[in-house]
Amino acid sequence: MEKSNKYYITTPIYYANSRPHVGSAYTTIVCDAIARYKRMCGYDVAFLTGTDEHGVNIERAAEKLGIKPAELVDRNQQIFRDLWKLLDIQYTHFIRTTSSEHALAVQKLVRRTMKHSPDSIYKKKYEGRYCIYDNLYVSDTPEPAECPICGRPAELISEENYFFRLSAYQGRLLELYRQNPEFVQPDFRLNEVRSFVEAGLKDVSISRKSIKWGIPWPDDPEHVFYVWYDALTSYMSGIGYADGENGSAEYQKYWPADVHMIGKEIIRFHAVYWPAFLMAAELLLPKKIFAHGWLLFEQEKMSKSKGNVAYPEPIVKVLGNDALRYYLLRETVFGQDGNFSREALLTRYEADLVSGLGNLASRVLAMIENYFGGVIPERPESEGTLGWAFSQASPATLQHYEEFNFSLALQEIWQFISLVDGYLVNKAPWKMAADSSKRTELAEVLYNAAEAVRVISILSHPVLPHATEIIWKNLGQSGGIAAQDIEHIEWGGLSPGTHVAKPDAIFPRLDFKEASERIEAMEQEIRNPGSTQPAAATTPASAGGVTGAAAAPTTSGTEKISIEDFSKVEMRVGLVKSAEKVAGADKLLKVMVDIGDEVRQIVAGIAMAYAPEQLVGRKVVIVANLAPRKLRGVESNGMIVAATAPDGKPVLCTFAEDVPAGARLK
Ligand code: MSP
Repeated sequence: MEKSNKYYITTPIYYANSRPHVGSAYTTIVCDAIARYKRMCGYDVAFLTGTDEHGVNIERAAEKLGIKPAELVDRNQQIFRDLWKLLDIQYTHFIRTTSSEHALAVQKLVRRTMKHSPDSIYKKKYEGRYCIYDNLYVSDTPEPAECPICGRPAELISEENYFFRLSAYQGRLLELYRQNPEFVQPDFRLNEVRSFVEAGLKDVSISRKSIKWGIPWPDDPEHVFYVWYDALTSYMSGIGYADGENGSAEYQKYWPADVHMIGKEIIRFHAVYWPAFLMAAELLLPKKIFAHGWLLFEQEKMSKSKGNVAYPEPIVKVLGNDALRYYLLRETVFGQDGNFSREALLTRYEADLVSGLGNLASRVLAMIENYFGGVIPERPESEGTLGWAFSQASPATLQHYEEFNFSLALQEIWQFISLVDGYLVNKAPWKMAADSSKRTELAEVLYNAAEAVRVISILSHPVLPHATEIIWKNLGQSGGIAAQDIEHIEWGGLSPGTHVAKPDAIFPRLDFKEASERIEAMEQEIRNPGSTQPAAATTPASAGGVTGAAAAPTTSGTEKISIEDFSKVEMRVGLVKSAEKVAGADKLLKVMVDIGDEVRQIVAGIAMAYAPEQLVGRKVVIVANLAPRKLRGVESNGMIVAATAPDGKPVLCTFAEDVPAGARLK
């Protein structure tokens, strides 16, 4: 069968009410690796991402900041684009749901639905519970209910809505799953979806009257579209569905999507609602919905509202883009939940990238430089053990890539790397080099090792685009590594006589502790810009406390805590005894604070707002029971409380009346 030449992959569009964290970058990185892989297989790839900019939670987030929703989403969508740029995500299309092309597409889709399946949309009074965080209709009765996704209490809504007759699509959906068992992957997710549909489907509301921040319903502008109807349509609007009668040329070429990559919590919208919406509109269905697991942090889903997030930027700045990609794709079995830990990230960096691929490539190139003047020696007659091992490893790796089994694909490649390391230890070319009678053998060993480095680079390029590009160039290869045909890598492709270069360390060796501290300090700056001292949101002790994470302006703030929760935070009055700058850190001051029964050393991010001498003798408020942590190598035992002024500068909390050092705040 001739293979279709186009491949269309999508990420979910991200809620533009807060900045992306490692969990949200995960889906995008995965899609980027797949897109790069498919391009290397010769496909013409369209890769869509974007931002989900409507809905009540955006409206509320903007209200809290005292700005218009449009201003908030304009600002936040740029943060997503900047991150994708930093991560070198090669998306081809970016859709914003507040764009006019998207609004036109949503209206076009509903009009088409009313034309082709007039019975599928009707108006009805609705009373029920709705989760504004997950945009989910939780129950169709007014009794209190909790959201099954986030566990928060759902809000009561009562209004007239347009409904989609989802109940009428049960049979067709079950038939779809029966005929295309790969429509939903991994297969255990298909079982969940099938059981949900078999249990009977309720009609779903697809418009809202109570909110303004949305796309108006055609000819009935009192209603705006329910965010999921709006958001799902982005997969088509992003490639030009609104254009002309049949969509743009791009839409005609790329639709239907080959895969919608999503996180597991939004599977119902994608595998039940979306195909039903498309069936009603008589449009082609996406070919596959792949639902991956969550990245967990301390066993919980990483999420900004819980304060347990890691951000990609600091990792990329300290370890590089490839390290983050490699870790996320290697450490977790794709499809299952996986744990995120900075320690595991640094361990992988050190073991697999510095000592594994990086070391192998540098060693081999250095030996060719030293023993053959930087020129690739003669190609041996036979492929040898490495060539044979590659002929096994290559198809296995490709098969894993095809199935999005990244951890297995990388495992396969790294096993091959170990084999090449073992080959070098065994042959000991450094000994051969000392013996002129072994020149031919030496040439054979180094040709084979360099060829192995070449094929490893091609195979791992979708995951490690930057390092492999460097190795490729150092191997004297032209044509660009991304343009290589990954499905047909021939052993022996390295041409004798090619000049190679000795690379600088591809993955520099780093001091584990220092790298970890640098990442932590930068994360803290993101969590709590210009504030006092780290919110320590990476430790359970402080996650969700009165730290910067909870006080950040973009968090929802609607969650209530009990008095018992509050009493866990030990806030005390402190008297500043001394303060000095922390060497090499513009924002940090080391402050010694008397809290009655002891003098505490606290590192605070206030140097841009306060000179050390301004602080001495001043009464401040500190959080006394935060777990100790180090910033730039200096231990900090607590946090000084401050508010953030409109210009972003911290303003210390203080008292109008006199109060003794050590007094507790209650
Ligand atoms: N806006 C909707 C999607 C609409 S698609 C038509 C949405 N947005 S989201 O910003 O909340 O999530 C976007 C994606 O990020 C989801 O696939 C979600 O699973 C993923 N992740 C967010 N946090 C995550 C983890 N901690 N781990 C893995 N992925 C997670 O849902």
